[in-house]
Amino acid sequence: MNVYDSSRISDMLQKEGYEPTVKQTEADIVLFNTCHIREKAAEKLFSDLGRAKLIADERAEHGKNTVIGVVGCVVQAEDTQIIKRAPFVDFALGPLMYHKIPEVLHQIKTNKERQSVVNTDFPAESKFDYLPENKAQGACSFLAIQEGCNNFCTYCVVPYTRGVEYSRPVAEVLTEARRLLDTGTLEINLLGQNVNSYHGEDENGHERDLAYLLHRVAELDGIKRIRYTTSYPADMSDELIACHKDIPTLMPYLHLPIQSGSDRILKAMNRRHTSGDYLRIVEKLKKANPNIGMSSDFIVGFPGETDADFRQTLDVVNQVKYIQAFSFKYSRRAGTPAAVMDNQVEEKVKKERLEILQNLLFDYQTEFNRNCVGKVMPVLLEQKGRHKGQLIGRTPYMQNLHVETNGANLNKIIEVKVAEATTNSLTGKEI
Ligand code: 5AD
Ligand code: SF4
Repeated sequence: MNVYDSSRISDMLQKEGYEPTVKQTEADIVLFNTCHIREKAAEKLFSDLGRAKLIADERAEHGKNTVIGVVGCVVQAEDTQIIKRAPFVDFALGPLMYHKIPEVLHQIKTNKERQSVVNTDFPAESKFDYLPENKAQGACSFLAIQEGCNNFCTYCVVPYTRGVEYSRPVAEVLTEARRLLDTGTLEINLLGQNVNSYHGEDENGHERDLAYLLHRVAELDGIKRIRYTTSYPADMSDELIACHKDIPTLMPYLHLPIQSGSDRILKAMNRRHTSGDYLRIVEKLKKANPNIGMSSDFIVGFPGETDADFRQTLDVVNQVKYIQAFSFKYSRRAGTPAAVMDNQVEEKVKKERLEILQNLLFDYQTEFNRNCVGKVMPVLLEQKGRHKGQLIGRTPYMQNLHVETNGANLNKIIEVKVAEATTNSLTGKEI
C-alpha cells in the first residue's frame, strides 16, 4: 500500500513541477513514506531523517533549501512527537491526508517564520477525490480499492493508523484501472488492508462486493493479469472463491494470512476464524482452481503462545504447503490490546520459533520452485537484469524469473521454459 501511496504522491508532485531524482543531494524535497506495523519499520525513520538532515545542511551551505516531509502511518501514530524528536521536519501528514501536500508546500513557502505543519486528521472526504490522474507504475501496477480496517486484531495498529474501512466507488476504480492500462500496465493488483471486504457503490448506487469488481476489471480492454491483496479469511465469500474458477486473468495465487495455527491464539488475536475454517477455505479455493498457490503471513511469539500452539502453526504449514509466505516475530505496538497482555513471550523464544518456521516455509517454497523446472510459464517481464540481454519478470505465482531475451520484450508477457530454481528465483529459456 505504501508503494502505491508513494506513486500517487509522486504523480502529485510531478503535477506541481517536481521531477524524481535518484540523487538525494539533488532533491529539493525529501519525503519519507512510513510504516508503523512493526517497531523496526518505525524506528528506521529516525535514523533516515538524521541522514537527510545532514544532506540538507550541506545543501544549505550552497544556498539550497531542502524541504523534509514525513507521511504515512508513523505520523498517524506519533503525531506531533515526530517534530519533537526531529524538529527540522517541515511537515508530517497521516496516510489519509497526503492529498494536502501541494497546499502544505505552498504554506511552508509563504510562511514568514519557519513552522512545521502536522496533520493527522481522519477527513470526512476521500483523499482519492483530490489526487491528480494516475499513470502506470510499470507493467504491473497497484490500485488501492479499499483502505482501513474494522477487524481490530489485538496486535495490529492498522485500524488506528489507517482508520475505519472505506471502499472506493466502482466507477472510480474502473477509471483508474483504464488509465493504468492506457499507460502501459498489463497487470493490476487491487489493494486494500482488508481487500476482500470491499463494498463500494456501483454506478446505480448499489453496494457491490469484490467478486463483482473483479468481473468488471476483467472485462477491461488490455488487462492480462489481475491480483488482489490482502484478504481476511472470514471475508472469503463463495462468490469470490468462484472468481478463481471463472476469471482466466485472475492469477492462480492468493495471499491469505492465517497468522497462527492455534485456535486459542487466534482467539486471543481476535481473529474471526479458526484454523479449521481457514483450511476449509483453502480446500474450496483448490476445488475452484486446482493450480492455486497459497501465501500467508504468520506471527510467532504472540503473548501466551506455547510450544504446543506454535506446533499447530507448523501443522498448518505442512497441510497447506505454502508456495511463499511472510513471517514475523510479534512486535509490541503501543495502544493495541496485545501490548499490555501480561504473558509476553521472551525474545529468545520468538527468535527460535521464527527460525524454525522460516526454515519450514523455505523448504516448501524451494520444493514448489523446483517442481516448476521443465514447465513452460508465461512471464511478465518487468525490469532489466544485471547481465546484458537479461530481463527479470514474474510468473503467475509471483516467482522472480531471469531470462535471456530481446530487450524489446520488456513490459511484455513471453513463454519461458524453466531451467533452474532456487528458493527465491527461477531461470529459464524463452521458447
Ligand atoms: N507484530 C508482528 N507482526 C505484525 N503484523 C501486524 N502487526 C504485527 C505486530 N504487532 C503482521 C501480520 C500482518 C502483516 C502485514 O504484518 O502478519 O498480516
Ligand atoms: Fe491488522 Fe489485517 Fe487484522 Fe486488519 S485484518 S487489524 S489490517 S492484521
